[in-house]
Amino acid sequence: MANTATIVGLQWGDEGKGKIIDALAAQAKMVVRFQGGGNAGHTVVVEGVKHVFHLVPTGILYPGVQCVIGNGAVVDLLALQAEIDGIRAQGISLEGLKISDKAHVVFPYHQALDEAREKLRQGKQKIGTTKRGIGPCYADKAARTGIRVADLYRPERFADRLRRALDEKNAVLHHLFGAPPLEFEPIHAAYLAAAEALEPYVTDCSTLVLDALDEGQEILFEGAQGVMLDIDHGTYPYVTSSNASTAGVAVGAGVPPAAVQQVLGIAKAYTTRVGAGPFPSELHGEPGERLRELGHEYGATTGRPRRCGWLDLVQLRYAIRLTGTTGIVLTKLDTLAGYGPIQVVTGYRKDGLDLAAPPAQEADWDGIELVTETLAEIPEGFDYAGCKDYAQLPQAARDYVEFVEAKLATPVVMVSTGPQRSALIQRGKPVFAV
Ligand code: GDP
Ligand code: IMO
Ligand code: MG
Repeated sequence: MANTATIVGLQWGDEGKGKIIDALAAQAKMVVRFQGGGNAGHTVVVEGVKHVFHLVPTGILYPGVQCVIGNGAVVDLLALQAEIDGIRAQGISLEGLKISDKAHVVFPYHQALDEAREKLRQGKQKIGTTKRGIGPCYADKAARTGIRVADLYRPERFADRLRRALDEKNAVLHHLFGAPPLEFEPIHAAYLAAAEALEPYVTDCSTLVLDALDEGQEILFEGAQGVMLDIDHGTYPYVTSSNASTAGVAVGAGVPPAAVQQVLGIAKAYTTRVGAGPFPSELHGEPGERLRELGHEYGATTGRPRRCGWLDLVQLRYAIRLTGTTGIVLTKLDTLAGYGPIQVVTGYRKDGLDLAAPPAQEADWDGIELVTETLAEIPEGFDYAGCKDYAQLPQAARDYVEFVEAKLATPVVMVSTGPQRSALIQRGKPVFAV
């Protein structure tokens, strides 16, 4: 019998998914990344040591947990190799790592195109991508011009596909963007060498995960990004290029949809977004900067300052319904302590009408009026990170959690109160029956 939990970001990414996956991985046999690539940055803090995972699944700190990079992810083999080297240098074993032979490979021309396109976009058209080549790689996948991990182990096929890809990309880079062309030989040699080094990890991951499902093993599906960055359901075109919502699990891990059972939606106690695009509850100026400093809100992948704002229940309700979230994990509650009275967005109004859900069209986000409620300040001076018992939290902190839970009609099953692995309060039943 299957025994799975899916972890998805309910906002615009960086909700603290890494921390929660790490905490749950102690009970899991397998962690599977099903979409995204090196654009992700999942932070884990254990005994004062900070780890940031980009491509390697956030379970690698536990020996014996299989860490699967699924077919739905896009993998820059050079970046993965560098990440692996960094992890190994910390004395952490990579024995559990598995890379899908069907995952698409990110090449330097994808990064060059990502960068060139961003450069050409003017003002509000800029997406603010991570420049990791994610969009162009998924575009090649859909256009059937991509190169998959398995292709690298058939040298003639690889050379042929790489040559053809470079002919096309160089023409575009040169003629359309005025960017320098890329040479075949160095890319070919570097990726072949990386493929050779990574070969022990490469396998048919779908079969691996299906077998684990059949055996009833505890499996975590690790989402990257968040619902509002989902290519179909996010704030298009200010999104990433994969399905960051729960629906991405089946396709990207190679399992039937029924393998998705409990869904833990991770939401920060406020909202952040890195990159451009609609963000109705954003706090501008000093109030936003203060929240950024309190929460150390700087991107784990690019170091960019994150835009900060209030919790947005219209956006969250949409994300919860779309993902089938069965339990919310509210993170960074400690960050709000001492900020002052807290506002929460409870409604959107446009042209005198209530909006039930975020609009689909970019232009329709303009002119949204926010309906807000103000909640009491969460006090400073309490040891939030050391608190293990929900009932011990200050009244205002509990009121905030319960307000969110009631408004969203979904239980808050865990509350995270610090970056450390241990700073986590369990409210609901344990995720895996033990
Ligand atoms: P992810 O991409 O969803 O895994 O999130 P990131 O790692 O990009 O960003 C979350 C940041 O918040 C990281 O620096 C975490 O160490 C930190 N963090 C996670 N949970 C908490 C929490 O409950 N309180 C505080 N103060 N920091 C947290
Ligand atoms: P994790 O998994 C936050 C954002 C980028 C940009 C948009 C498109 O750590 O939550 P891309 O490089 O994917 O083409 O960029 O998506 N973005 C993220 N924002 N957290 C992430 O991942 C993100 N991955 C991409 O900033 O706005
Ligand atoms: Mg992140």
